[in-house]
Amino acid sequence: MTAVRASHAAWIDDLTPEVNPLDAATRDALAHAWRDDAFAEHASIGAFTRVAMQLLAVGAPPELVEGAHRAALDEVRHAKLCFTLASLYGARWEAPGALSPDAIRGAVCELPVIAREALLEGCLGEGVAAALARDAAEHCDDVAVKSALTAIADDEARHRDLAWKILGWCLDTGGDRVADAVADALRALSAAEFALELPAGVDRAVWVSCGRVDPARAEALHEAVATQVGTRTWAHPAMASRVTAVARRPSTPRARRKGESR
Ligand SMILES: [Fe+2]
Ligand SMILES: [Fe+2]
Repeated sequence: MTAVRASHAAWIDDLTPEVNPLDAATRDALAHAWRDDAFAEHASIGAFTRVAMQLLAVGAPPELVEGAHRAALDEVRHAKLCFTLASLYGARWEAPGALSPDAIRGAVCELPVIAREALLEGCLGEGVAAALARDAAEHCDDVAVKSALTAIADDEARHRDLAWKILGWCLDTGGDRVADAVADALRALSAAEFALELPAGVDRAVWVSCGRVDPARAEALHEAVATQVGTRTWAHPAMASRVTAVARRPSTPRARRKGESR
């Protein structure tokens, strides 16, 4: 769930990408992509605020609560960077309006839920975000965008590491209910789809040089991170008995990937 779209300069940061050499289709596609990222980053502010409250509600250690609050502040910076890029490529102020209270209402403060969310949104989601931002920064020729992507990649890697600590604490202290929830989440993770496409009319090399990840590369990075997350989580001592149970379980069909027929 993301905020409604608004147009003002309150979320604009000090960042100046090279816009003029680009054709209209590329500028438009970049504005669209950065706007999508901006609203996702903005939603992450609320997501980490909710995580901090969930952690407080279950008596988590202070370093986890502090990490969640710091991550929320990181996401404010990310949102501003992305709204700035969307605005400059699109020649229109882009900003978040109101975020529905539903986005922060109704957080479930139970260890199995917190563990599941840490796994899927943190270890995987933040892990993929870190990998994508790092890859984009490495191949970006625009100095300003490269700098923004590098800062985002460093922060997302820290958010990923925080999620591993939250997951580990939940598994260490939560008993069978947490391990069962995490096992279910891992099965969902192995069936998840992730597909991107290059925007129409945009040159692939230009897209990458502007700091956007090549879609095929993004899918490969997502798959690699998902595999690492599965391997690392199953290796946790609390998951040992579930590994055996899964091995005995008949395999479930993998979700259809983009381009596959049934
Ligand atoms: Fe972020
Ligand atoms: Fe993040």
